[in-house]
Amino acid sequence: MKGIILAGGTGTRLHPLTKVTSKQLLPVYNQPMIYFPLQTLLKAGIKDILIIVAPDHSGDFVNLLGSGKQFGARFTYEVQDKPEGLAQAFLIGSEFIGDDTVAMILGDNIFTHDFSPSIKSFKTGAKVFVKEVSDPERFGVVEMDESGRVITIEEKPEQPKSRLAQTGFYLFDQTVVERAQNLKPSKRGELEIVDLAKTYLEKDELSAEILPGEWIDAGTFESLHKASTIVRENDLGIDFNHLSSMQVEIQDIKKKISL
Ligand code: G1P
Repeated sequence: MKGIILAGGTGTRLHPLTKVTSKQLLPVYNQPMIYFPLQTLLKAGIKDILIIVAPDHSGDFVNLLGSGKQFGARFTYEVQDKPEGLAQAFLIGSEFIGDDTVAMILGDNIFTHDFSPSIKSFKTGAKVFVKEVSDPERFGVVEMDESGRVITIEEKPEQPKSRLAQTGFYLFDQTVVERAQNLKPSKRGELEIVDLAKTYLEKDELSAEILPGEWIDAGTFESLHKASTIVRENDLGIDFNHLSSMQVEIQDIKKKISL
C-alpha cells in the first residue's frame, strides 16, 4: 500500500501564522505538524509516501523531511498548484499510486490510533475512519447502521444525520484514480472526498470504522492549541535520534532539484 500526505492549501484560517509558512510546518508542541501524519503512516508500515505541498513553501518541506531515508522510507514530492479539493490528491498522485491501494492522510490531522490492523486487512473498496464530535456540521458526516454499514455520507451538512465526523485518514483501492478522474467539482468548486466515497457507497463498497483514541484536525487556533496539549500529555512524536544525519542528505537533494 502507498501513502499520501496532503499538505497543500493556504491555511487562511490560521493567518497571520501561515503568511510566511505552511500550516503543516507550524509547531505542535515540540514538532512540526507534518511529523504527526507522517508518523501515523510509518507506524502503520507504509514506507512509500507522496507528500503533496503548496507551491509557496515547497522547498521547506524538502528541507525538513529530505528523501525519507532517515525515516526508513521513500518520499516523493508533488506540488498542488491550487487547492481544488481533497480528491484532487488522486489526480496529482495518479502516477505514484499506479496499480496499488492507497492510504491518504491530511497533513493537519493528528491521531493517536495505530492503523496497522485496518491496513493489513484492507483489500478492496474504500474505508473511512470516523469519530463522534460535538460539532459535526464542520466535517464530512457519516451515518451508519447498527452493523457498521454506511448509509449516508455528506460534506458539512447543515443538519447532520449523526455526530460521526469523517476524519482525515482514508483507505482506497486501486480504482480510486479512475473514480477521481470522473468526479465533477462541487458547488464550492472542489473535488470532494465525500463525492469520491459516494462512488464506493453506491456499490456497497464503502465501510467505516469508529476510531478509538484522540483525533484532531489542527487547522484552527483552538484545535492547534489543543493539539499541542494532547501531544505534550500523550508524549507523542518521533524519536529525534533518527534524524541526526539528515542535514547532509538534504543538501544533496536540494542540489539535485535546484532549490
Ligand atoms: C476535510 C474534509 C471533511 C473531513 C475533514 C477532516 O475538511 O472535507 O470531510 O471531515 O477534512 O479533517 P476541511 O478540514 O478541509 O474543511
